[in-house]
Amino acid sequence: MKRFKFFKSLKFRIFLLLALMGILPGMVFRMGLLRTYESQAVEIRSMDILSQAKVLGTQIVTNDYLNNSAQETISGQLELLSQIYDGRVLLINSRFQIVTDTYNLDTGKTIISEEVIRSFKGEEITKYDSEDRYIEMTIPLTNSETREILGVMMVSVSTDSIQLNYEYLEGNAMVLETALGIVAAALAIFLAIRLVRPFGKITRSINAIQTGEEQEELDVSDYTETEAISNAFNQMIKRMQVIDQSRQEFVSNVSHELKTPLTSMKVLADSLLSQENVPAELYKEFMTDIAEEIERENKIINDLLSLVKLDKSAGEMNITHVNINDLLEQILKRLKPIAEKADVEMVLESFRPVTAEVDEVKLTLALTNLIENAIKYNRPDGWVHVSLNADHKYFFVRIEDSGIGIPEESLEHIYERFYRVDKSHSREIGGTGLGLAITRNAVLMHRGAIKAHSKEGEGTIFTVRIPLNYIA
Ligand SMILES: Nc1ncnc2c1ncn2[C@@H]1O[C@H](COP(=O)(O)OP(=O)(O)O)[C@@H](O)[C@H]1O
Ligand SMILES: [Mg+2]
Repeated sequence: MKRFKFFKSLKFRIFLLLALMGILPGMVFRMGLLRTYESQAVEIRSMDILSQAKVLGTQIVTNDYLNNSAQETISGQLELLSQIYDGRVLLINSRFQIVTDTYNLDTGKTIISEEVIRSFKGEEITKYDSEDRYIEMTIPLTNSETREILGVMMVSVSTDSIQLNYEYLEGNAMVLETALGIVAAALAIFLAIRLVRPFGKITRSINAIQTGEEQEELDVSDYTETEAISNAFNQMIKRMQVIDQSRQEFVSNVSHELKTPLTSMKVLADSLLSQENVPAELYKEFMTDIAEEIERENKIINDLLSLVKLDKSAGEMNITHVNINDLLEQILKRLKPIAEKADVEMVLESFRPVTAEVDEVKLTLALTNLIENAIKYNRPDGWVHVSLNADHKYFFVRIEDSGIGIPEESLEHIYERFYRVDKSHSREIGGTGLGLAITRNAVLMHRGAIKAHSKEGEGTIFTVRIPLNYIA
């Protein structure tokens, strides 16, 4: 596993890339260069021999050497040619007889090869055999006046020297290349380690932040990319801090809210216990207060449970087709006793029948809270107006009241958990400050939106917009 991990590392990849980049061009260059050298050398050699052979050919023709080979100068020159180029020269007359063989092996023999025949027709042939390493040239010997081809000169020279040179060069190139390869590999290792270093720095920094050795800021600005990673990481840390803070706040709020009724109960109970001969009416009065506090504690716990349930993922939505008109009617019916007690008139106005894919329990919770608020934060003889409308995509529930309204500076806070505009007043009314937080969560889980408009002393309008079809 560990081995594979190394091959997967950026370090190794960079090393591989750089090493290949260092070694491959040299290899390609060497092979290309050597190949060109070989063909170039062969060509130059051929041209050299050809021009000398031609000069010699002219002399042979003018001196009629083909018929009279006892001429020392020409024989000497043929010998020289074959010696210089480490080769063999054959002179063939028109009867395909070998007049001269500088190797003295085939003199007098007859030779009928394809090249010789073609040369008698006037062709000048150069052939390179790289396998057996020789160049063979067949040149017609032409009388310059009569244009008659009197014979053919055949020169074959070894290219061993070219090959030797080639091998020498190749050897040198190999040495050079190996040296370069080692340098390239060393450089590649060095660069790979260096280039990847900032990433190691990131890991170390994050670990240090995690264990608290370092302050909570990642700053690896070696590359634009590592800077981007640092920024993203710092942003994530900040977000986590905010979440952590709000969680701590929530916990401390919850403890406080749960403790308040308990403190009241304790005070009430203590004052009864500390007195002797308490009249029965006082007992009754205090016990009523204690019962109210228990009721309040109960309410807070219920609201908290609803909120916690809603805080879980949207995957726990229980979606069904619900008739919203009926749903609203039911809610209003359930709230009627409270409204009557508060002397508030409720009106429901449905503009059209609406059926939607919603979680009935959660939506009921949300709407009940809104309508309950509209009743609670109202004035005697006030009204609550609930209306339902829809377009092709959404349905809209509007809850308007003639109540006390919400001050402008409080509007942005009303969805916060435990937030109440007027603590003492709200307490009298008996809220927990969790209702709108629950409502907002429930609406958001339906991918809906909620908005509030209010004017202090005149009333409040809440509008809820929810998609008709649930978007998972
Ligand atoms: N319709 C309304 N009219 C006036 N004030 C409201 C209305 N609805 C909510 N509020 C204010 O917003 C606060 C938060 O509401 P909510 O979260 O439901 O808590 P509560 O349990 O106090 O009702 C309330 O305490 C109240 O001050
Ligand atoms: Mg409420």
